[in-house]
Amino acid sequence: MIMRTVIVDRYGPPEVARIAEVPMPEPGPGQIRVRVGATIVGAADAVMRAGSPRYARIASGFRRPRHAVPGGDFAGVVDALGEGARWFAVGDRVHGTLAPASGGNAEYLVIAEDAAVVPTPAGLDDAGAAAVVDGFLTATPFLRDLGRVGPGDEVLVVGAAGAVGSSAVQVAKALGARVTAVTSTPNLDLVRALGADLVIDRTAGPAQATAKADLVARGVSGYDVVFDAVGGWSFGTARPLLGPRGAYLTTVPSLGVLALAVPTKLLRRRRTAIAFTGLRSAAAKRADLELLGRLVAEGRIREVVDRVLPLERVADAHRRVDGGHKAGAVVLVTARVEATAR
Ligand SMILES: NC(=O)c1ccc[n+]([C@@H]2O[C@H](COP(=O)([O-])OP(=O)(O)OC[C@H]3O[C@@H](n4cnc5c(N)ncnc54)[C@H](OP(=O)(O)O)[C@@H]3O)[C@@H](O)[C@H]2O)c1
Repeated sequence: MIMRTVIVDRYGPPEVARIAEVPMPEPGPGQIRVRVGATIVGAADAVMRAGSPRYARIASGFRRPRHAVPGGDFAGVVDALGEGARWFAVGDRVHGTLAPASGGNAEYLVIAEDAAVVPTPAGLDDAGAAAVVDGFLTATPFLRDLGRVGPGDEVLVVGAAGAVGSSAVQVAKALGARVTAVTSTPNLDLVRALGADLVIDRTAGPAQATAKADLVARGVSGYDVVFDAVGGWSFGTARPLLGPRGAYLTTVPSLGVLALAVPTKLLRRRRTAIAFTGLRSAAAKRADLELLGRLVAEGRIREVVDRVLPLERVADAHRRVDGGHKAGAVVLVTARVEATAR
């Protein structure tokens, strides 16, 4: 049996992402096969395709991509069971992630039944179910575990409309924090609708000055967490806004953050930290996907979809991600549909 898949077998511009026909994968012992309805082209997929920044090639392969089929996050329907697999039944709707491995940008994939895959929350279609995975599995460990965000905390999110940022606003609210969100003019209403208490337009003037003025006006001594979802700021930018035990957390490594993470932690004052959430265990991710399902059911987390494109328009999806201004996730669907922007 033949299926369509995305192939990226050399580094380069979006056009190197192409469609090919390959044999369908067979589920091995303990695995399930998923007929993919929707899958994501995310920031990590664009880095893996471009081979840039160069240090990323340590993970993705020095001369060419080590794994030709990109894509981590997916949603679809279980269509075959490997020997001994019994957690799911054929016909179950599931969503999850193959990250840090890949292979999701295809019509079918196989995954261990005890990996990061869970039943799809009711109320989400495949596009929405694929879209919520990466942001939630990134924002939750950053805010809950690294930032120890709790009720009444002050959290500022930089890049609040992106896949990670839009989830971070909702996760911080679910943890009971008061949220300030930094975004650009076109995304102000979106971020407000996600629950941000204060929205700062970064394109209208210095966002740090506005955040500081707000803290002063409310008599708050500083943010408990500044979560930089896109690496747009630095520890130096965020530091004056932090409370005495506040933390600047960023998803994007820089020499400054890598050098200061340990010393600032030891000094127990204002600190900076980074995590690599894709490397968490499958069990930790599965537990958070189950939590995500509960929060979706309670209406506390919703999907943010930048656009939906058919699988064969994968190069357009990469172009949109490369632009750096998507709001939420760029979704590829396997059905032959007209492209939609949401
Ligand atoms: N460390 C980890 O474990 C981990 C895990 C997941 C992702 N990541 C990384 O996190 C980053 C974000 O991923 P993502 O998928 O959320 O990205 P994304 O969706 O592409 O983020 C786009 C958003 O960033 C905003 N933005 C762009 N430049 C900005 C700037 N200079 N200052 C403030 N906001 C800016 C844009 O909003 P505007 O409208 O304001 O331009 C846009 O909404 C990526 O680099 C990804 O590789 C790291």
